[in-house]
Order: sequence, then C-alpha cells, then structure tokens
Amino acid sequence: MKKHNIILDCDPGHDDAVALMLAGNHDAINLLGVTVESGNQTLEKTAFNTLNLVQYLNLDVPVCLGVDSPLIRHVEVAEKIHGESGLDGYTFPPLKKQADKRHAVDFIIETLENAKEPITLVTTGPLTNIALVYKLRPDLITKIAQHVLMGGSVGSGNVSAAAEFNILCDPEAAHIVFNADVKRVMVGLDVTRQVKVLPEIVDRMETINNHVSDLFVKLMRVYNANQLKVFGLPGGPLHDPVTVAYLIDPTLLTLTHASCTIDTSKGPSYGRTNCDLFDYLGEKKNTYVATGIDGTKFWNIIETTLKRYN
Ligand code: RIB
Ligand code: CA
Repeated sequence: MKKHNIILDCDPGHDDAVALMLAGNHDAINLLGVTVESGNQTLEKTAFNTLNLVQYLNLDVPVCLGVDSPLIRHVEVAEKIHGESGLDGYTFPPLKKQADKRHAVDFIIETLENAKEPITLVTTGPLTNIALVYKLRPDLITKIAQHVLMGGSVGSGNVSAAAEFNILCDPEAAHIVFNADVKRVMVGLDVTRQVKVLPEIVDRMETINNHVSDLFVKLMRVYNANQLKVFGLPGGPLHDPVTVAYLIDPTLLTLTHASCTIDTSKGPSYGRTNCDLFDYLGEKKNTYVATGIDGTKFWNIIETTLKRYN
C-alpha cells in the first residue's frame, strides 16, 4: 500500500474530526502535522478543538496555529452546524497538549523544505494558510505531491446558492490556490452530499464500541441534529473525511480533469467554483474534480479505521 506523507490543514468542526481520525491511524497515511485556521469557528476555538482531538487520539504530531481570518473577508463561522464550541457534543479530558510554537505557514514551509519525498497537502477548511505558503514560497510547489481539498461545488453551494463554505470563507485565497501549478483534487459537495452520516450509519459505528467510535457517535448525533434543524436532513454530509479516504483508496472517487476557476466578483456568485467539466472554454485544466463516489467503500473505510483504535 502506498504511504502518503501528509499535512492536514483543518478547522474542526465535526467532519474535520473524522478526517483526523482517518489520518491519524491508517497504514496509507503518515501524518506529519496538523495545521489550523478559523472557519467553522474562530481560531481560538478550532485550535482548542484540534488540540483536544490530537490528544484524545493519542497522536504524536505537532499542532500549529495558522491564520485567524481570511485574506480580505471578515471571519464567518458555521455555528449553526458545529455549535458554539465548533465541536459540540463531547466533553474531552483536561487538555495538556500545547500548540507548537511555529505558525502553521512556517511549519508547512519548513516541512516542505526538509522533505526528502514530495508531501501531500490535505485541507478541510478555508484555504488561507495554503495561499500564504504559495505566495511566500512558490519555489516549494515542486515539493508537493498533490493537494486534496474539501471545498467547492460543481452544482449548488451550501452557504449561498453559488458557494460552498470553505471557498466562500476566503475566495481570494482559493483563487491563489487554484492558480498554483500543483496536482489538485477537489472534493466538492457533488460527492460529499452522497455520503450522509444517516442515523443507521451512526448506529453501525456504535457497535465498534471503542473510545474513538464513541467520540464519532456522540459528535455525529449532534452534527445530525444541527443538520436536521438547518437543512431538514436526517443525516449530514460527511464532507471532510472523503479527502483522506481518497488517499487510502483512490478508487473511491471518479475524477474529471477540468478548468476550475473561483468567482471573486462581489455579486451573488462570489466564492463559486466554476468547474468547466465539458471544456466549453478550452482553458487549461487545473483541477481533478470529484464527480462520483463509492459510498459503500467510504463507509467501510470509516468503519475499518475506527476499529483500528481498539
Ligand atoms: O462545506 C463543508 C465544509 O465547511 C467542511 O469542511 C465543514 O467542516 C466546513 O468547514
Ligand atoms: Ca472543515
């Protein structure tokens, strides 16, 4: 099995937490570090959540705090979905783990500089940290194997008719990222909406009966209650772990290579990912857009990885 050396950049967030569960305990993944930014909640809260998760999962990896706001936009959190804490639903043991002294951007740069083999960037939040890395050190792009990101949508958005949350948090950062000459895999709402963590899925994972499946169950039940309130969905799309699951099993996703541009105009389509799947404009294809997902494989990856925490 190919092992991916990855940095996970995130904004926990209930689904970010599940992405971390996968990244922290799988033979296909060597987690080098976790970087954080504001997104689902303020940086103070996403940082606290990340440290709690890394400590709870007993991961010996650095947690580096990144930006506390987008490049230009104001901070916009997703409190209705993730709650006041950003990770409502679980009370963790007293926090002892401390954040690494390095800024997230410095950590990513340093790790890329020192890498003997190309590194995979996995992002499950806004793209501000990554945009700053690309701007500060474009020479390091050659050290990136690929960037797998949760964000965007070929179809409709989830925070406006046009835009998905991670992209709309910082469209200018997304514009920088999508213009970088890096192999990029976009895991958008088109596929994440096909893997809703329905109550029967939660019940299935509850039978695993270890401390991490317990965390999964408690977090998902709160996540689903909020998804029901906001979207009327019985189960929320489990967005973020699709990125890591794809690295674990690349056959999970169907990809279409396409030109994907970010709308940074300040109109109703601000933050939209325009993915030209049919190559209408003949522009350079810069992104592998996920257009299909094998849901059975996905839930099997979740289940088998949760069981590894026994
Ligand atoms: O639109 C879904 C994305 O926004 C996920 O990453 C979720 O955690 C939120 O950050
Ligand atoms: Ca997220």
